[in-house]
Amino acid sequence: MNLRNKNFVSRFARNKNLAFGENLVSRFARNWKYQFQQYGAALVAAAVLFAILSVYLFFRRGYYDLYIANKVFAGVAAVLLGIVLLIGPLSRFFSFPDRYVQYRKELGIAAFFLALTHGIVSLFFLPSKFPLSGSLGTLNWPFVFGLAATIVLVVIFFISNDRAMAAIGRERWWQWQYWGVRLAFILILLHVFIMKWGGWVKWYKVGGGRELVHPEWPGAGLLVGWFLSFVLLVRLAEFGGPRFGRAVWYISVVALPAIYIVTFWWGRQFIK
Ligand code: HEM
Repeated sequence: MNLRNKNFVSRFARNKNLAFGENLVSRFARNWKYQFQQYGAALVAAAVLFAILSVYLFFRRGYYDLYIANKVFAGVAAVLLGIVLLIGPLSRFFSFPDRYVQYRKELGIAAFFLALTHGIVSLFFLPSKFPLSGSLGTLNWPFVFGLAATIVLVVIFFISNDRAMAAIGRERWWQWQYWGVRLAFILILLHVFIMKWGGWVKWYKVGGGRELVHPEWPGAGLLVGWFLSFVLLVRLAEFGGPRFGRAVWYISVVALPAIYIVTFWWGRQFIK
């Protein structure tokens, strides 16, 4: 590189707050590699959850179609948002989750796309299962909460970038993100619990429908519902201070798998 070019690069680098000797190309490459790693990790997490829930529902029902995939979109989105909300308090209680804090944005974005897909599929692609008139005709609270959660997630998604942060101002931007994720989570809890509660109680009483290959297995929504309750509990426990929060975490992290085991054990009485 001749002296003129070198001067230009170092001046440009200084202007852009780059390390001395680092040019735009290497910065771009580094940034691209970083983004790839970040989104790659979120995609892997989403894909693993997607595969687990899909295989589970396929064996529970004996078939797999868009109706089932739609439950998986919804379930994975809800679990990913739950994980995003768990990372915060856990990194305050313990040091091991610190390295996962950096993935919250990408996990949230993966959850957003899955939730959006679920909303669109529910509204427009499964008319025989969920006719649009059923959502819009009378006041349908689960629909209202699902739609409200989707709108909040859309807003958070569109402001999840540096340009939006500069436009809104760092402080306010942070508040919007902070309250937005919490509000979306509460709306999702209402969407799922109001819609599914009756079915869950019925499953514990009489098991799943006779059309299922394994009516003795709980529905994926019930498993997701328990996980969402666990996230809510851990989040609420934080208000009691770090010691209380940690104690609730230890108890509930054992209680959640115990609940799953008892639920499967309970279902054995419904074997066809
Ligand atoms: C316009 C927005 C939305 C609409 C129209 C909608 C509609 C539906 C419908 C029709 C179901 C029943 C599915 C079934 O029983 O097979 C459902 C369940 C569910 N939805 Fe939504 N939803 C919306 C937004 C959301 C959002 C943002 C989330 C967040 C992740 C979400 C999470 C869930 C979950 C976890 C279930 C339970 C799935 C299961 O039973 O396995 N939904 N939703």
